[in-house]
Amino acid sequence: MVTCESPIAVIDSGVGGISVLKRLWKLMPNEKYIYFGDSKNAPYGVRPTEEIKSLTFKSAESLISMGAKELVIACNTATSAAAAELRKKYPDFPIVGLEPALKPAALSGGRPTVIVMATELTLREKKFAALVERFKNNAEIIGLPAPGIVELVEASKADSEEMDEYLRKLFSPFDKDKEYCLVLGCTHFPFAKRAIRRVMGDRVKLFDGAEGAARHAKELLEARDMLCPQGQQGRITFENSDESHITLSKKLFEDYEV
Ligand code: DGL
Repeated sequence: MVTCESPIAVIDSGVGGISVLKRLWKLMPNEKYIYFGDSKNAPYGVRPTEEIKSLTFKSAESLISMGAKELVIACNTATSAAAAELRKKYPDFPIVGLEPALKPAALSGGRPTVIVMATELTLREKKFAALVERFKNNAEIIGLPAPGIVELVEASKADSEEMDEYLRKLFSPFDKDKEYCLVLGCTHFPFAKRAIRRVMGDRVKLFDGAEGAARHAKELLEARDMLCPQGQQGRITFENSDESHITLSKKLFEDYEV
């Protein structure tokens, strides 16, 4: 039976969703979490939509059937591909998704130039097109796919010379003296924040959707009276389709500052 002491399931294509898990942990430290990363099949973002949908359903349904009380899809790509259908299939089950934080960036003042970094899938799906439609009058919006960041983070190279080199090429068309808003629209990207600042400088304003998603996850549980009682000791279980990524998952969780 699912109770308020049941765990919150958090899924991602790999270790990226740990940037969201850390926010959840900060906000709800007495909850139990099961984090499942599908690193064996990462990156998702370069795959066809149907394939990502089926991989996401597989991870989500195994955790729902294990008795999780909520599902957080800590992956913009999996959310774009599968969240709507998951919600249709489980209408009473609380499901939280991630979307690029375009709103706060576009509304941050003036008419900013907003670079939305995300996976190819996120940028081509209708969820993102709808988001651009909403904010196109507030900002100049540029979509920038960056699959190499996902691969480097999965390879434990988030803060490395290889990352800097990749980012230098990625950002070469942009003027470093201009003030950009950069939306980290993939949950792997916050782990590359230090490298992004090294390459783009300190003037760049960074936005990511993890904090909003964590707040929403808490609200959904509160509304159902399903928050774990105060005073309980929280716990995280890390799982991964590629066991060799569990040590990296724990390290990223420990080191990531929110
Ligand atoms: N972490 C995922 C996201 O937020 C996707 C990374 C991938 O391509 O697997 O979009």
